[in-house]
Amino acid sequence: MSTKSQVIAALYQYLFKPLAFALDPELVHDLITTIGESLENLPRLVSFLFSYSRPDLKKTVLGTEFANPVGLAAGFDYDGHLAKVLPAVGFGFNTVGTVTARSYAGNPAPRLGRLPKSKSLLVNKGFKSEGADKVAHRLDQKQLSFGTLGISVGSSNLPEVNSIDKAISDYLYTFNVFKTRPYVKYFELNISCPNTAMPESFVASQNFKLLVQAVKKEKITQPIFIKMPNEISFADSDKLVEVALENGISGFIFSNLVKNRNNPGFDKTEIARFEKFKGNFSGRPTFVNSNSLIIHTRKKFGSRVAIIGCGGIFSPKDARKKLSAGADLVQLITGMIYQGPQLPAQICETL
Ligand SMILES: Cc1cc2nc3c(=O)[nH]c(=O)nc-3n(C[C@H](O)[C@H](O)[C@H](O)COP(=O)(O)O)c2cc1C
Repeated sequence: MSTKSQVIAALYQYLFKPLAFALDPELVHDLITTIGESLENLPRLVSFLFSYSRPDLKKTVLGTEFANPVGLAAGFDYDGHLAKVLPAVGFGFNTVGTVTARSYAGNPAPRLGRLPKSKSLLVNKGFKSEGADKVAHRLDQKQLSFGTLGISVGSSNLPEVNSIDKAISDYLYTFNVFKTRPYVKYFELNISCPNTAMPESFVASQNFKLLVQAVKKEKITQPIFIKMPNEISFADSDKLVEVALENGISGFIFSNLVKNRNNPGFDKTEIARFEKFKGNFSGRPTFVNSNSLIIHTRKKFGSRVAIIGCGGIFSPKDARKKLSAGADLVQLITGMIYQGPQLPAQICETL
């Protein structure tokens, strides 16, 4: 690890984290968002502090160029406030969202919780979003000139969006808001949020087929990555991959959060304390399944698919494990919260 990364990591572990972890997680997230956004006009300073670049880290995947293979996953920058500063922090790509057509204030609190022994976070946001138009307007104002930005698209978590047809129209609305914006370099199609009120699921292949057929008709030019569930059998995952490929979509992200609280990645006493709280979990408990799905999908579909490995990356070694399992790129959130903002640079230094 470079001296710069070591200093940032030490400051984070011994100074910032003890303070931040004593406060409510959502409050800390809001504070970081405000501070981060205020630094967007100082990209040189932010880059100097955090970023690491090397020409050979550049990668082109599905025709899109990434400055390095380490991205910020959906769920940290919901409404695009940090879109301008994140490339300077050293992320090779950053996803905004999940964005939904209509605004939603989020599920009742608590929406976030920390499980440090399990290296995990409880997530119960339920597609908190300011809505596609407002987010697009914000991003337009930012005059984004560098970085590779993507939009994660979901369907509005509202009682009236209660059928497959309505949810599909809702997804399409958001795609249409963003598809003509030149700064949008890729999309994520989120079919795997486990915290929404929608009675039916797009993980069922017949519903997924209707969705991707509808998306295909929109003639979207940016690559689309399907955000896959974590707890899915190889057979069910294969069905979704095949349906996506038949409809011209060849990008996949393995994967989203875990629901099963008996996952062996949890510290048993710690998870028991969350018995009364709704939500799903990120971080270490997602690691094993995500890696198995990457290995399986790469083996079965070869170069027909592009894969982003996501879930439980806390170190350069974890990232390399996903890349050697067959991922083209990786994404993270929870690792950065536990280890510090130098993590993307730290990973890139070792690639
Ligand atoms: C606070 C939080 C919010 C999240 N929200 C979303 C979301 O809106 N859409 C989505 O596709 N994934 C969401 N995720 C899942 C992450 O994108 C990622 O798939 C998962 O956390 C595993 O990566 P990690 O272990 O590096 O955090 C969220 C994760 C966290 C921690």
